[in-house]
Formats: sequence, C-alpha cells, structure tokens
Amino acid sequence: MIKKCLYPVAGYGTRFLPATKSMAKEMLPIVDKPLIQYAVKEAMDAGLIQQAFVTGRTKRSIEDHFDISYELESEIKGSAKETQLQEIRDIRDNCVFTYTRQPEMKGLGHAILTGEPMIGDEPFGVILADDLCITEGDPVMAQMVGLYKQFRCSIVAIEEVPKEETRKYGVIAGTQLQEDLFKVSDMVEKPAPEDAPSNLAIIGRYILTPDIFDYIRNTPPGTNGEVQITDALLAQARNGCVMAYKFKGKRFDCGSLHGFVEATNYCYEKFHDPSE
Ligand code: UTP
Repeated sequence: MIKKCLYPVAGYGTRFLPATKSMAKEMLPIVDKPLIQYAVKEAMDAGLIQQAFVTGRTKRSIEDHFDISYELESEIKGSAKETQLQEIRDIRDNCVFTYTRQPEMKGLGHAILTGEPMIGDEPFGVILADDLCITEGDPVMAQMVGLYKQFRCSIVAIEEVPKEETRKYGVIAGTQLQEDLFKVSDMVEKPAPEDAPSNLAIIGRYILTPDIFDYIRNTPPGTNGEVQITDALLAQARNGCVMAYKFKGKRFDCGSLHGFVEATNYCYEKFHDPSE
C-alpha cells in the first residue's frame, strides 16, 4: 500500500530566529525528542517505512539524527541511558532514508515536486514536522491511510480554526459526506476571514496520489513567487477527487512560538515521568 512518506524540511524557520540561524527548525526538541522524530515515528506506525526528506542548507543534522553515532552508542552501551535511544534505533532498523535538496525555497508545492524522484509513481504521505499531532488511538497518518484504502484519492487533514485565524492556513469548502469527511470543491490559500469559504483549515498531513506532480508542474507561482500545494490540490479536486478529513487528536503548531511552548508543556505533563 502506501510505503513512502515525504518531509519537506527546507524552510528557513524564520519565526525561530536566532535559534534556527544554523540549525534545523525540525530538530527543535519537544521535551527530549526533536520534532522530526515524532513525525517519522508517526509515519512508521502507519506502515510508511521509506522516509524521503527534501532538505536545504543548515539541515544536515536531520540526516545525522537518523544515522548511527558510533562513539555515543559505545559510550552509553549497557547504561540506563540506552533506553533513551530505543525509539530512534527502532526507526533506524525498520526504515530506509533518502534525501534531496531544494536549492531555493520556492514554496511547499515546489518542495513536494523536488521530492518526485524519491517518490516515483505511487501514492505517498506528506508530514510537515512542525505540526505536531498527539492522539489517543491511531496516529493521524494511520487514520488517513485507513481512509485512503477506501477512497484511493488525495486526502488532506483538516481542523476547525477560529475564523479570525484563516489567514494562516489553506482553507477548504466541500460536500460533507460523513461527520468527519468532506469532498473538496474549493480551496483558498491564506484567505482573509471575510473571504474564507469555511473555517476548515488544512494542517500538515497529506496523502497524495502521484498525479499531483503534474498538477504542481502546471501551477504558476502565487504570492511571493511561491508554488502553493493548495493550488495544485484544487486543480486535482476539480478534475478528480480530493477528500478532507477532520482527524482525531490534538495538533500543535510548533512552527510558532506559542504552539511550540504549548506542545512542550502538554507533552511534559503527559509523557514525562516525574521520577526521572
Ligand atoms: P512554513 O512557511 O511554515 O515554514 O512552511 P518555514 O518557512 O520553515 O517557517 P517560517 O515561516 O520562516 O518561520 C511549511 C513547511 O514547508 C516547508 C517548511 O520546511 C515547513 O516544514 N517548506 C516551505 C519547504 O520545505 N520549502 C519551501 O520552499 C517552503
């Protein structure tokens, strides 16, 4: 089924300057784990074991994170600290990793197109690691893979946002098929509240069918010269089918300072063992 997951991680992360001047935003930790590790674990738990990264300058630490660190491994071998490396070892043992660079930041759509040689002609997941999703049951990507088996078309994850925040998101309109599922008829990137077709905002989880690459190729750059994935998805929705899925779980916008601090506090309370 779906085996590959794409991570566009080439962005500058300017909202976290100066921290992100020479380090990857995706390596910022929520408690003790970098954002990108939460993302890859989510994909792996959904059966997506081929991890494809679209990286940029200053992002080399992501590659190192998923590689073996022999010195460190031998240093802590046999000590209690070994358990802290358990999850990353599981990921390393069960996944394969590929990397390519997006030399110029020309938008999320362009970043996804840059990943085409790593994906090929098959459906794939996309995770934006700065949207951290915490769930009680299945992770969000696993929920979406279940839906893909049913509908076999592109799926975007959505959540209801306050109307005054629509400017931060791609916003959809569509026909409601189930309580948590819409067939997309319209999509607008970062609309003003008065222009937004709804308050259903796209978050950083997608399943895309490979024809999306042709739609992106035919998408002209929009504002700031960026190629928006929203525009390509709208074309795909008009010619075929795109579903929007209200996922079960909690999302934190860790690309913003507020969301990052909120996620840190939430995860510390929820997952941290006070005896440690
Ligand atoms: P954002 O605009 O939220 O991330 O892009 P950013 O540019 O890194 O952050 P700020 O706004 O400057 O603080 C959403 C996602 O798309 C990726 C980013 O890495 C992020 O994961 N992206 C965006 C690319 O990989 N390439 C691009 O050209 C644009």
